[in-house]
Amino acid sequence: MKWSEIKQLDSWVEVDPYDVPLDKIDMSRPELFEANVHDRWFARLRKEDPVHYCAASKVGAFWSITTFDDIKTVDTNHQIFSSAGGIVIGVPDANLKTASFIAMDQPKHDHQRRVVAPSAGPVNLNELQSVIREKACLILDNLPVGETFDWVEKVSIEMTTYMLAILFDFPMEDRHKLTHWSDVATSTEATGNFAITPKEREIELRECLAYFGELWHQRAGNTEGFDFITMFANHPDTKDMIDDPMNFLGNLILLIVGGNDTTRNSMSGGVLALNDFPEQYALLREKPELIPNMVSEIIRWQTPLPHMRRTALEDFELNGKQIKKGDQVIMWYTSGNRDDSAIDRPEAFIIDRPKARQHLSFGFGIHRCMGNRVAELQLKIMWEEIMKRFSKVEVVGEVKRLPSNFVFGITEMPVRLHAA
Ligand code: HEM
Repeated sequence: MKWSEIKQLDSWVEVDPYDVPLDKIDMSRPELFEANVHDRWFARLRKEDPVHYCAASKVGAFWSITTFDDIKTVDTNHQIFSSAGGIVIGVPDANLKTASFIAMDQPKHDHQRRVVAPSAGPVNLNELQSVIREKACLILDNLPVGETFDWVEKVSIEMTTYMLAILFDFPMEDRHKLTHWSDVATSTEATGNFAITPKEREIELRECLAYFGELWHQRAGNTEGFDFITMFANHPDTKDMIDDPMNFLGNLILLIVGGNDTTRNSMSGGVLALNDFPEQYALLREKPELIPNMVSEIIRWQTPLPHMRRTALEDFELNGKQIKKGDQVIMWYTSGNRDDSAIDRPEAFIIDRPKARQHLSFGFGIHRCMGNRVAELQLKIMWEEIMKRFSKVEVVGEVKRLPSNFVFGITEMPVRLHAA
């Protein structure tokens, strides 16, 4: 296809990446992720232009950082690559100027992160293990064996929402609000997934703020709990956050989205990967002790958050390219996780892969995912319980994905269970 024809197209799904002039490649296009064809575009960039400049797109000009090592360089260099301009591609929503610690630089970032980090840390997780397992069993025992149903709705959403409700000590009967607010929060024009208008988004998120404001007031002064809200409301560094509602809301959204979309999509993505690589499913049946290693491989394979964004505070030369102060820099984790200079046979899903934990999906440096152990634990328990009950979770229909460059999301996945 000629570039003059491609230019007229709304969707690049059918386009061969090699038909587009290198400087016109625009990896912000959400349809590439929705159709799961983004890998082949990144393969070209890694080979021909690993630090790539896109001068014009719907989300403005931006650099794409595509190799494992260059992504690590940017992610660990927080003095030069700032998070304060936002961590999602494009211009942040002007209606709702929230501030969360993922989008802050030092020292403010550390002051807020360290307050809630223990909730997602080893001591609390140890306490929570049995509750998570109990819930996993309940969900799995109620699934209809031999019938077709949507795994995303009945398992992935149910399990991650429950876990998140525990971490917030959120009223269980209202837990579906968390799923809803998570979906609302990630619906923005820049990511490509904008089912609602910015005004509607603002209204919904203000409701979220009001709901959590009540929980805050109930918990301020009572230090017994170990949940995110109790921790924020009672720590000297954050006890006044309630008077800065956009900071409070920003952190709520961070913790809700962080704990929700990511693990949810790993839970669906793992089932899909095992169906796409049946010999790996056979190996898992033979050696269920591989589950912890497989969990890391699932998280690499899925890369639930394809990118994080930074803004350059100074000029910086990276891999022969001159990034300028003020430039938007996108670390494409999803590409780094398919880079064969760092990962052996990255296009294969290998459950006994050596050093499986050395992937980019959780980021690096000061912003490295605070919930990484929570996510791994949930997935580990879930798979242990799945393997006790079912010989196969078979994908039996079309898998639907989210049109988004920020959340690599599976929205529907029809499956049928085979009893063990
Ligand atoms: C498979 C699941 C998950 C993936 C792939 C994931 C991915 C990420 C990534 C890529 C970052 C940014 C890293 C960087 O900029 O260097 C991040 C940060 C974060 N994640 Fe996760 N996440 C997951 C699960 C969770 C869970 C379960 C929670 C909480 C309950 C959580 C909470 C956070 C928080 C609070 C941050 C901000 C850390 C900071 O700025 O210091 N995440 N996550």
